[in-house]
Amino acid sequence: MAQEPTQIQLRNTLRQTFRERRRRLTNEEQAHFAQALVKQCEDSGVFASAKRVAIYKTNDGELDTQPLINHMWENGISVYLPVLHPFSDGHLLFIEYTQDSAMMVNGFGIQEPRLNCQHVCPLAALDVLFTPLVAFDGAGNRLGMGGGFYDRTLASLHDCIDRASPKVVGLAHDIQKTLSLPTEAWDIPLKWIMTPTKLYHF
Ligand SMILES: Nc1ncnc2c1ncn2[C@@H]1O[C@H](COP(=O)(O)OP(=O)(O)O)[C@@H](O)[C@H]1O
Ligand SMILES: [Mg+2]
Repeated sequence: MAQEPTQIQLRNTLRQTFRERRRRLTNEEQAHFAQALVKQCEDSGVFASAKRVAIYKTNDGELDTQPLINHMWENGISVYLPVLHPFSDGHLLFIEYTQDSAMMVNGFGIQEPRLNCQHVCPLAALDVLFTPLVAFDGAGNRLGMGGGFYDRTLASLHDCIDRASPKVVGLAHDIQKTLSLPTEAWDIPLKWIMTPTKLYHF
């Protein structure tokens, strides 16, 4: 008799489904969505008075963040990218990213700035933190690539109910939305998710 899939198998199947779905988007669709995202950020006021914003380099069919990064550079917003923490296993640090940043390719094949302690921004000093995600649901639950890096990094913030910053905003294509996702105790849900067409607030 066939056995019920475990929650781990179910989450991995969902990851595969949603990753395939976004990888099938054409270059034209990706370019259109990336521009729509910039407009969405401007129109929604998500950056209102933001000075320091963390984002990530696009990988695996994710929304192309480079036009948004260029837009922030042009508007005098300091941009930060995640790098793997050198001694706090599974956590992220956020390093300033400029046109002059020395970059390297990490173990996931993603570009990241070279670790330089002088360029680190503490989490609480960021105004906005954009997170990648593989799928999200109607309650703001987030399924990532399976590394748990953002869950670990955001766990300390999650306990401070009155915190003002950073505003944590998931970025996703509209096709990454689903009705309901299976969650685990350590998953940190998102209050905000932005797609090229909509800013969700949960
Ligand atoms: N706050 C945390 N402390 C310790 N381990 C964690 C924490 N958050 C997540 N993890 C671990 O990270 C792994 C991946 O988390 P998961 O939520 O499945 O990935 P993702 O969020 O990338 O989809 C899990 O095995 C989980 O135990
Ligand atoms: Mg998680």
